[in-house]
Amino acid sequence: MIVVVIGNQWGDEGKGRVIDNWGEQVSYFVRVQGGANAGHSVIVGGKKIVLHLVPSGVTYHQAHCFLGNDMVIDPMALIKEIDDLSAAEAYNCKSLGISPLAHLVMPYCLELEKLREKARDKNAIGTTGRGIGPTYEMRARRLGIRVEHLRHLDIMPEYVKTILNELNPEIRHWGGKTFTQKDILDFLEKVAAYLVPMIVKTPISATICAAEARGENVLIEGAQGLALDLTHGTYPFVTSSSTIAGGACSGAGIGPTMIKKVIGVTKAYCTRVGAGPFPTKINGELAAKIQERGKEFGATTGRPRDVGWVDATQLAHAARINGLTGLVITKGDVLQGIEPQICTHYVYQGRKITNFDELDCCELFKAEPVYETLAGFTEDISGCRKFNDLPKGAQELFSKIQKYSGVPILAISVGPERHQIIIMRDLWQ
Ligand code: IMP
Repeated sequence: MIVVVIGNQWGDEGKGRVIDNWGEQVSYFVRVQGGANAGHSVIVGGKKIVLHLVPSGVTYHQAHCFLGNDMVIDPMALIKEIDDLSAAEAYNCKSLGISPLAHLVMPYCLELEKLREKARDKNAIGTTGRGIGPTYEMRARRLGIRVEHLRHLDIMPEYVKTILNELNPEIRHWGGKTFTQKDILDFLEKVAAYLVPMIVKTPISATICAAEARGENVLIEGAQGLALDLTHGTYPFVTSSSTIAGGACSGAGIGPTMIKKVIGVTKAYCTRVGAGPFPTKINGELAAKIQERGKEFGATTGRPRDVGWVDATQLAHAARINGLTGLVITKGDVLQGIEPQICTHYVYQGRKITNFDELDCCELFKAEPVYETLAGFTEDISGCRKFNDLPKGAQELFSKIQKYSGVPILAISVGPERHQIIIMRDLWQ
């Protein structure tokens, strides 16, 4: 069975919880898009490891892991991550393969992003600084360097010359450090020695389709969340890849009919990092309390995340765009003793808005959220393992999230540990 796990909000929903709880039955884990902007935390032997590029399945002995077609891979970041995983004795999977179609985040992409964000000043997007935007831009400009290019270093001098002819003037314009052809060719030679042996011989698409036909399980790990999707998110305050379930088809090389289930992950509240509209954002002491309790600091950049309430319009949007079949709610425990609210709709210029995508980004900045206030719960729920064990107020909160999304709950996490979860349905049934 092929299952896609996706974020319903602005990323950081805790997609790793799905892998934590159902990873043992997976033969192939595939990251499909994004790059080292993502940060997936996994706990191995009681130690927290943050993965940025490598699929979370890397810790499972039975699994093969792939870095998929639409990823943008910073080779130095990947090499460091593999070394760190090996040092922590957490590099346990059977194999780690890279798609030849993925693109490389080149040093000039990192430099350009730094310069551009600085120049944009107060209009900056607040990117993670991992070279994501410039790398996808070079891909669309047909001047990207794919992983497969590492097998053809002989053709690279001419190609690199063309790239630098176009990019160095911009770097110079912003007062940055320009690159010589030799800088880039040396870089490519160095990373080729490490990465070429990791390029998959059989296309990822063929491998996972064959696995599916044998009845094995494939888990596709999305990164970021729907509201950061290049098309469907709050453009231009988005990432540069397709973060929706449809994007997984390209990133893994499968047709839409191959996907059996799409699991959307949602926090019991909401967070966002970087600039852009956040209609349900809360401020002051309450926000600080949730931020501290939920440890809402970026796994990649360490930046504090803005905090807000669950937005029913956003959940319904995520369910519709992704064709969600199941919902995982995370960090339910964080709201203990806090009166939760859910935004049921917005009012914009006197109009009732129930569809997140009915308003464009400029309008979303001015949308007035309308809330339903719930009773909440004061009890510690971290020991609950069944829905019926939960206090009534917690049951009401999670049931409302289910109702507004229109998608059945698969699981609710009630604490950071792997076992602190209420499983309502088995993913692989
Ligand atoms: P970029 O992906 O680094 O270009 O950043 C674009 C926007 O997406 C910024 O607002 C980032 O904070 C946000 N972003 C990118 N990756 C993640 C993530 O994994 N979690 C949360 N926000 C992210």
